[in-house]
Amino acid sequence: MSTAVIRSSSQKNKQYQPYIDAKWGLKNHWYPALFSDELKEGEFKAVTICGEPILLRRENGKLYAIEDRCCHRGVRMSKKPFSFKPCTVTCWYHGFTYNLENGRLDTILAAPNDPLIGNASIKVYPVSEKYTMIFVFVGDADYAPVPPLEHDLPPPLEKEYVNYCKNLTEDGALTVGIHRSGESNWRLAVENGFDPGHVLIHWKSPLVYAHNLAVPLGARPITDKAVSIIESDDGPIGIRNNTVADPDGTWHYDLVLENKELGVKAVGGNPMIGLRTSMWLPGVLRVENFPFQGVNLYEFYVPTHEDKYEYWELMTFDPKDEEDKKRILDQYEHYLKKAVFHEFNDDDLWARDAMQPFYQNGVGFEEEKLGEMDAIIIGWRKLVARHARGIQDAPKELNGSSKC
Ligand code: FES
Ligand SMILES: [Fe+2]
Repeated sequence: MSTAVIRSSSQKNKQYQPYIDAKWGLKNHWYPALFSDELKEGEFKAVTICGEPILLRRENGKLYAIEDRCCHRGVRMSKKPFSFKPCTVTCWYHGFTYNLENGRLDTILAAPNDPLIGNASIKVYPVSEKYTMIFVFVGDADYAPVPPLEHDLPPPLEKEYVNYCKNLTEDGALTVGIHRSGESNWRLAVENGFDPGHVLIHWKSPLVYAHNLAVPLGARPITDKAVSIIESDDGPIGIRNNTVADPDGTWHYDLVLENKELGVKAVGGNPMIGLRTSMWLPGVLRVENFPFQGVNLYEFYVPTHEDKYEYWELMTFDPKDEEDKKRILDQYEHYLKKAVFHEFNDDDLWARDAMQPFYQNGVGFEEEKLGEMDAIIIGWRKLVARHARGIQDAPKELNGSSKC
């Protein structure tokens, strides 16, 4: 009788089970909700993050984020929010009125003596407006202390690094971008973002032709330093593809330039100097020196629903002066927005959507067959399992809980 031990896929997944469980995202993390200019003074706007409906408000220059679900009968107040008094929102249905600072039920329009007043509340969220965006901390109401936003963003590169380019958190950075929704689970989006084996989908991109970019068929890890893990008790947590040679000329990835069996060769002649990808909790990609040297490209994959995420695409430049800033904005508006954020990244968007049916209900995590090119994806899953500040539960109304 054979004594061989067969590793079942469920055993395999135990290495990063919290990641498999994180269909609704990681809780107790900061996520971008809107660009600053999407919420004007006096406006309310609704977003969904990790399945939680959130209502944002800018009033007298101050930002508020409050649960977008009235505790009376559960409607989304964002359908028609009223504000009859500073720092409040009144539900359009029966007039429950909440304090935006603390979520407390302050009064009810037609029942000002109801004993519920002062004794019921909805959730409020920490909010931070920085780097052109409004971020919301989504997690347990009693999670403390709330970590700095910068712990959930890529850290600046070292100034001495030969391929340094400015981080979105640094002074003088010029950051531009868009966001739109994608039709897959957030984890599939993250894993596509820094997947070293997926360049085939960009092979015929107009951006590649326009700049004659040297795009390999793929990248194969060849040393145990191909992937770096950045773990810190007091800072961002991330994982990086070391696709740039060490100062002594050592390479950690082999760029695959030809597949003889298929008769396919890599295209383009201009090397992409300094291009390096990294992924940071809770799901933020940085691509250094892309689409060209001196530019950092970022992507956030914000979980919204189990099969949907908000896809944020940003670029950070380092303008020399006002004139240079104008030139960059013009180039962005008329060229890079279309060529990079749409044409090039549209290929990633549909690739992620195409993975969704297989991973629906977690089946893909059981049945996938990952190869050597996927080492960093496994590394990312384990990193999340070790460092996520929490795993978000499905919304109450979907998981059948009777808590109310
Ligand atoms: S549902 Fe909001 S006041 Fe009744
Ligand atoms: Fe891609």
